[in-house]
Amino acid sequence: MTQSTPLPSTMRAWLYSANGNPSAALSLSTSHPTPSPPQGSDLLIRVCHCALNPVGAITVATIPSFMRRCPAIPELDFSGTVVAAGPTAPSQFPIGSRVCGTFTVAANRKGLGSLAEWIIVNEETAGLARVPPDMGMAEAAGLQCTGQTAVAMCEKARIKGGERVLVNGASGGVGTMVVQVAKAMGAGVVVAVCSEKNAELVRGLGADEIIDYRVHDPLTKYLAEKYAAEPFDVILDTIGVQELYEHSPDYLKENGIHINVGVNKGLKTFLRWGKNAWLPTAIGGVPRKYCMFNTVLNMRMAGVVADLVDERKLRTVIAEVFEMENALKAYDLLLSQRARGKVVVKVQEL
Ligand SMILES: NC(=O)c1ccc[n+]([C@@H]2O[C@H](COP(=O)([O-])OP(=O)(O)OC[C@H]3O[C@@H](n4cnc5c(N)ncnc54)[C@H](OP(=O)(O)O)[C@@H]3O)[C@@H](O)[C@H]2O)c1
Repeated sequence: MTQSTPLPSTMRAWLYSANGNPSAALSLSTSHPTPSPPQGSDLLIRVCHCALNPVGAITVATIPSFMRRCPAIPELDFSGTVVAAGPTAPSQFPIGSRVCGTFTVAANRKGLGSLAEWIIVNEETAGLARVPPDMGMAEAAGLQCTGQTAVAMCEKARIKGGERVLVNGASGGVGTMVVQVAKAMGAGVVVAVCSEKNAELVRGLGADEIIDYRVHDPLTKYLAEKYAAEPFDVILDTIGVQELYEHSPDYLKENGIHINVGVNKGLKTFLRWGKNAWLPTAIGGVPRKYCMFNTVLNMRMAGVVADLVDERKLRTVIAEVFEMENALKAYDLLLSQRARGKVVVKVQEL
């Protein structure tokens, strides 16, 4: 192992043992043991910022303690500096380098998380990239989970050039990334669904048209009226609005695809996933292709996202940055489902 500076024996970390909503389940420890020295391909990272994700809160609420470390650390996304490396650690992340990354969902479910001052990562537990030179560390923390999800959605939609794309939830953590990645991959027209108060922001990310779903309610009726003659090739839903898929034949091409990553309806989401993807049209299935998936967060995708930032095709929109001790307030904003962009926690000054 090589290491830049000696490590304190304890650190600040948000922890949970029993499941529940973050406000009930999480507590801030000021004396949690720092990770053991890195082994093999491990990297030890001094975390500077952590960005929250709905999936992080879902894990706190649902994964029982016998399936994970106890106490566990919440959250996936982080930015920070490499402070020590195991003997076979990847050489592209030398000690002192600024990195941003995200724990995989599987690692997070086992209790590994980023809302702590020091973390250990390796290629099995996290996707990692260098922080693009012009990017701040708060922005970098919010880049990877939603950025990789946006890339995965656009890759699955096979956006190559000229497509007409509808993005639902365009002002959220995933949606702000999807609008930008779709344009970066060559989408011809991106129509973005969000509240009027976020219209200017989303237009600034590259959306060609904005629809305020609160004004045009029901949204599906408005879409049918406006886009029947010029239907979409792709619908990218980051919220999980079932009606949007059920009515999609009115505004999605016959060979088009509807991709959803939103899971805000809990178990219902997964029952609908099965029905939407596999119910034959002869017995009531919707005659449009449906796809839902959990993004496999990894090193390759982390690099793709960082490259898009380098090319100035992608940036992180920050809703608000909270101090470490105010992380529960950050969760309140995240769980309000009204955050515009990423909710970030400043873990420590580097
Ligand atoms: N499958 C995967 O790999 C994966 C990965 C990441 C996230 N996710 C899931 O994706 C979903 C979105 O995550 P996120 O981080 O983007 O959440 P988020 O940032 O909390 O989303 C907040 C945004 O949702 C918008 N919104 C809320 N209700 C809406 C509705 N009915 N129609 C349109 N927009 C609506 C709000 O827009 P306005 O304020 O403008 O109305 C707000 O900007 C979550 O369910 C998350 O678990 C899945």
